[in-house]
Amino acid sequence: MTKRLTGMMAAVVLATSATAWAEQATDTLEIETENGALTLLTEVPAPAHLQDALDTIYSGWLFREADTRSMQKDDFDNPGMVFVDKGADTWNAAMGANGESCAGCHNGPESMAGLRTVTPRVDDKTGKLMIMEDYINGCVTERMGLKKWGTTSNTMKEMLALIAHQSRGEIVNVAIDGAAAPFWKQGQEMYYTRYGQLELSCASCHEENYGNYIRADHLSQGQINGMPTYRLKDAGLVSTQQRFKGCVRDTRAETFNPGSDEFKALELYVASRGNGLSVEGVSVRP
Ligand code: HEC
Ligand code: HEC
Repeated sequence: MTKRLTGMMAAVVLATSATAWAEQATDTLEIETENGALTLLTEVPAPAHLQDALDTIYSGWLFREADTRSMQKDDFDNPGMVFVDKGADTWNAAMGANGESCAGCHNGPESMAGLRTVTPRVDDKTGKLMIMEDYINGCVTERMGLKKWGTTSNTMKEMLALIAHQSRGEIVNVAIDGAAAPFWKQGQEMYYTRYGQLELSCASCHEENYGNYIRADHLSQGQINGMPTYRLKDAGLVSTQQRFKGCVRDTRAETFNPGSDEFKALELYVASRGNGLSVEGVSVRP
């Protein structure tokens, strides 16, 4: 694989040692769950729309160290599972203005199985691009009479974890055509736009330089199939919208806000770069 380091990128990606580029792992992500072993797809042919840029797409899991990888291989060791349980407590709580609960209308969280594989998506009725947070807040405000939850609040992220978890092992397959096409295009443009003082695009790091080290980090393809993720560094959950903010900030650019139209479009586009990978939520990252 040829790695092109140009301009600022060379200054940022530190090729300080012979290990500046390293092969990602090739292990299989087989997870011990309460219900037995579950094997996830972490390396698959790139979706058609990416074939000029990439042959293969990889889960970020493959780029992590062995100890981090193994935490995700057993639900008992996965620190993110606690937050799935917290999400379930919220799901069952009669917290609405009139005592409504998520469970009261939706039954068990398993009623959400599959949803994570197709979001973000354009809502049939409104024509709006919806990320999972929008669906949740729609119910929180309109159906429960509550104040909306913060996009990156803990309550929200725990609910994202619970809902993502219902689709674990299912294949990401967001729609990019029809009503989704203009949003997808917008997201694609953002992905290739060089932001900030460092003039780096998402693609500079996650398409042209995955496999390289940037400081101590082994660069992945920046996939979101594992979201929300448990980050060891933060000892807590990180959602896609939050991660985007961190990555844009690292280019020393003014960032868009989590939940903004821009980041929603970007989420659709980035999700589509992972079409074919398994949903991993909750994944574990350093
Ligand atoms: C008063 C009933 C009610 C309550 C309470 C409620 N919902 Fe909903 N929810 C609905 C209805 C009705 C829909 C739209 C129907 C549909 O499209 O499946 C919906 C849609 C959704 C969707 C999108 C589902 C899909 O397949 O498109 C999500 C996600 C969701 N709700 C999450 C929640 C969460 C989380 C809570 C609790 C914080 C909650 N809902 C509380 C009635 C409710
Ligand atoms: C300066 C390089 C750089 C740029 C530019 C950059 N990122 Fe990242 N990103 C990183 C690093 C480093 C990590 C942590 C290691 C990894 O997973 O690649 C990361 C992680 C991620 C992750 C988490 C992946 C996982 O498996 O958990 C996502 C998603 C992501 N980036 C998306 C983006 C998007 C979208 C953009 C453009 C808005 C972007 N990044 C721009 C460096 C960058």
